[in-house]
Amino acid sequence: MKHLLSIESLSADEILACVDLAATMKSARGAHTPQPLDGQCWALIFSKSSTRTRVSFEVGIRELGGSPMFLAAADIQLGRGEPIRDTARVMGRMLHGAVIRTFAQADVEDFAHYGGIPTINALTDDEHPCQVLADLFTMREKLGSIGDRTVAFIGDGDCNMARSWLWAAKRLGFRLRVAAPAMYQPSKEYLTRVDAPNISVTDSIEDAARGADVLYTDVWVSMGKEEEAAYRMAQLSGYQIDSKLVGLAAPGAIVMHCLPAYRGKEISEEALEAHADTIFTQAENRLHAQKAVMALLVDSPA
Ligand code: CP
Ligand code: NVA
Repeated sequence: MKHLLSIESLSADEILACVDLAATMKSARGAHTPQPLDGQCWALIFSKSSTRTRVSFEVGIRELGGSPMFLAAADIQLGRGEPIRDTARVMGRMLHGAVIRTFAQADVEDFAHYGGIPTINALTDDEHPCQVLADLFTMREKLGSIGDRTVAFIGDGDCNMARSWLWAAKRLGFRLRVAAPAMYQPSKEYLTRVDAPNISVTDSIEDAARGADVLYTDVWVSMGKEEEAAYRMAQLSGYQIDSKLVGLAAPGAIVMHCLPAYRGKEISEEALEAHADTIFTQAENRLHAQKAVMALLVDSPA
């Protein structure tokens, strides 16, 4: 693994290697020898807001012996129109790794190509691979397994999180049910590209939730879609995880949310608080999963 650009680009073995090493990172926290990023400087180049991703990478890079450098895209020449490929060629000569949060998936891929240093997608409009790796790790911690489980993704089924879940289901073989109104379902073209018989799409949240082991949701208005907020709220109202929906899921089902959460929108206050331990463990596990990813990237043969 030279970069983490998407879940699509990972094999099942690579995903499971990240999950396994995340577990080791979690249990060995505070006692990391050797330190795989010793003497390295990694940039965090962010064009969108972040709490969890920024904090977990800054802490994780330090815990692995490296130094993080946070760069708001608007503060560097990238924000004034310098091409991503030139930014990458400059940074690739000085830095040891890059963590990028932006809009276009192509920008992360171009950075990886031109920079020649390990590059991590910290969220694009297409995918959020770091979150799904942490989620898979959390799912295994809480349920003991992944491949034999059923996940129901409720809400905006065409967002970055939903897409990363589609690829995770394709690779690992668990059942994935996406429940969304027609206009926020994954497109037929995208589903054809994923081509996984274990994935189904419905407009019924009840059908998706019935007997599921995991109920998952994400915000209705992803970053960059703010102008569509009122319309999205109207279209997606009703696509909420609440206690009644949780009651349809399998006994012992868990509720997951990548956060930030908007109570009363994609999740009820009651459902969030009842499942807060799982949801905030997901947030914590970002740290452990991303340390695993970085350790695997620097360990990768050139
Ligand atoms: N889940 C997630 O990526 O959170 P942030 O936007 O706060 O980084
Ligand atoms: N789909 C959300 C995820 C936030 C972590 C967004 O892109 O804003």
